[in-house]
Amino acid sequence: MTLWLASEVGTTEVAKKEILGLFEHESPFATPKPERLIRQILQIATNPGDLVLDSFLGSGTTAAVAHKMGRRYIGVEMGDHAETHCGPRLCKVIEGEQGGISEAIGWEGGGGFRFYRLGAPVFDTDGRINPAIRFAHLAAHVWFSETHTALHKKPRGPLLGRHNGVAYYLLYNGILGDKRPDGGNVLTNKVLNDLPPHDGPKVIYGEASRIGAPRLKDLGIVFKQTPYDVKAR
Ligand SMILES: C[S@@+](CC[C@H](N)C(=O)[O-])C[C@H]1O[C@@H](n2cnc3c(N)ncnc32)[C@H](O)[C@@H]1O
Repeated sequence: MTLWLASEVGTTEVAKKEILGLFEHESPFATPKPERLIRQILQIATNPGDLVLDSFLGSGTTAAVAHKMGRRYIGVEMGDHAETHCGPRLCKVIEGEQGGISEAIGWEGGGGFRFYRLGAPVFDTDGRINPAIRFAHLAAHVWFSETHTALHKKPRGPLLGRHNGVAYYLLYNGILGDKRPDGGNVLTNKVLNDLPPHDGPKVIYGEASRIGAPRLKDLGIVFKQTPYDVKAR
């Protein structure tokens, strides 16, 4: 049995004031949590370095407190306030803002975070590639599944980038299942000649390859077939 008093962990009113201290305009929703409440929960449930997930980040209190307490964290937020509040709030935390629990724990700033924007779903609930997937989304997924790094720049052509000496290409004209040899999704000698060059091994995704396996091997090309070789993880 336990009782957490407002004097110990704060109230919604306290939380609203904390947010207003950070942003002059209104809090993005009615019931933000005070930093002291989240601190108490994290003290009980986690150790420094642990990973804290808040999949409904709201005003970003969980991430801000986790950051100040030396925990790693993932916050997910679908509202515009991900950009207008959560991101800027964490920037202020890094700069050493002195609201919430900062004074109590001697917070002086530091650390960092990454802000990612979720793309369109690549797979449907049965694990099949979404037939309406656009090049940019498929490219980002293929790049991530191959390199486990984010594709920061939208590729301008089939070369997605180079990673650890390997070049990754995606042949995709935006129409899943289009196997016309001149449609852009199929690896032919002409397509291969037109690809941006890379002096080293290549991984090429396409709907089909008109180049036989022995020649691909000689050329240092690993061919992967869309959609079968596009893996969910
Ligand atoms: C009550 S607030 C969260 C409060 C916050 N965790 C806190 O402790 O102060 C709920 C938030 O979840 C967000 N949300 C609701 N459904 C979501 C979803 N499917 N994915 C991401 N965010 C979602 C809403 O936009 C809203 O900002």
